[in-house]
Amino acid sequence: MPFDIKIVEYSDDFSDAVDVTFSRPAQRGRGAYRRQIFADEIAAGRVIGAYDGDRVVGTFANFRNTVSVPGGAAVPAAAVTSVSVAQTHRRRGILSAMIATALRQSADAGEPLSILIPAEWPIYGRFGYGHATDETSYRFDSKRCAVSRPLPGTVDYASAQEWVEELPAAYDRLRATTPGAIEYRNRLWERDAGLLTHDGKPTDKEKLFALYRDESGTVRGGVTYSVKEGDWNGFVANDRAEAEMLAEDSTARVRLLQFLWEQDWITTFDVETFPADDSWRHLMANPRFARETSRHDVLWARVLDVAAALEARAYETEGRLVLAVTDPAGYAEGVYALEGGPAGATVKRSTENPDVTLPVQTLGALYFGHHAATALARVGEITEEKAGGLALADRLFKTAVPPHCVTWF
Ligand SMILES: CC(C)(COP(=O)(O)OP(=O)(O)OC[C@H]1O[C@@H](n2cnc3c(N)ncnc32)[C@H](O)[C@@H]1OP(=O)(O)O)[C@@H](O)C(=O)NCCC(=O)NCCS
Repeated sequence: MPFDIKIVEYSDDFSDAVDVTFSRPAQRGRGAYRRQIFADEIAAGRVIGAYDGDRVVGTFANFRNTVSVPGGAAVPAAAVTSVSVAQTHRRRGILSAMIATALRQSADAGEPLSILIPAEWPIYGRFGYGHATDETSYRFDSKRCAVSRPLPGTVDYASAQEWVEELPAAYDRLRATTPGAIEYRNRLWERDAGLLTHDGKPTDKEKLFALYRDESGTVRGGVTYSVKEGDWNGFVANDRAEAEMLAEDSTARVRLLQFLWEQDWITTFDVETFPADDSWRHLMANPRFARETSRHDVLWARVLDVAAALEARAYETEGRLVLAVTDPAGYAEGVYALEGGPAGATVKRSTENPDVTLPVQTLGALYFGHHAATALARVGEITEEKAGGLALADRLFKTAVPPHCVTWF
């Protein structure tokens, strides 16, 4: 069955197609709301649809954003989202066709990177995306958790409005030092806080908001949480709570956790959006009462312009590495000589024999500093061509602190 790929607007049927495929039928009818939120992206032609006649059978948003890279630069990147193909039209190449259109669009716009959060692991590797960051969640046995030493600063409840006014500055500082973090665009703060909703009815009252301020009064983090009442069987308090946290540093994180642990009635806190770096646990008296409940991939990255991407980041040490990148779609294909260090890099096309050969998805996996090249070589994802090539790639690319895509998009 033939289909057409077009640059489109967020119409009601386009919006409904996303919600049906994502199994959220109750959310149909949000077309006008989404059109308003994404007005700039729609005007820029960054929404792609697949049509079977008049019917929307595929959706794809190729939104413009930036992503922080090691060294602190914010690199233009297409933040891909709302990817769906109707159940009735799957496995006929519709995603492949939409992604081909989107990658071309991004390359033409000079975006060195395309990034996304895959619904399922096996979908995007074939299109050149590689696994770039992880995230963790923890369950806290609240009544047994304590800090290892007194932590400075204060935590206070805040309104949702204070949250959206005060937390973005902390987030922007965090973003500047966190490879993998993107900009909050399209009114994401208000949407996250429940102040901006599709039916105009705020949902901010469904959770509590608290902000952490350091000794100078500067907001350094925040937590939102909601409590599920326990059964009070035997008249013992055993409520559970779920929280999401954003913290600029470990002190902010654990001070906010302490605020949660010290709540009466609540025995268990499930807290999301922790980075892969778990050094904050050392500020707990006994970190074993924090149990990691999930660890999963978040950001995947696709390098479109190798020279621009590699020149945008800083490297952990000085070094010169020649990389042969393979890319069936062509964008990244070639041999590149990288001369890099903590202050930056220059990258040139080269005719030399490479130190390492890697497919473009492995470059995306290495780029933000999460993986070691030596480890990926053990599973056949990068090949050493000259002795010492992998060790040098490790020293250059792998960052001391792992990257973190702090927000979902
Ligand atoms: C994932 C999805 C977008 C794929 O769309 P599609 O049009 O069926 O994909 P294509 O036909 O272009 O598939 C291209 C290739 O990827 C493979 N593929 C696609 N989706 C896959 C999946 N979920 N798991 C494993 N392989 C997948 C296909 O088998 C095909 O492989 P082949 O070239 O070897 O035959 C679609 O199934 C869907 O909407 N799923 C539910 C929503 C979702 O997960 N969206 C993604 C959000 S990030």
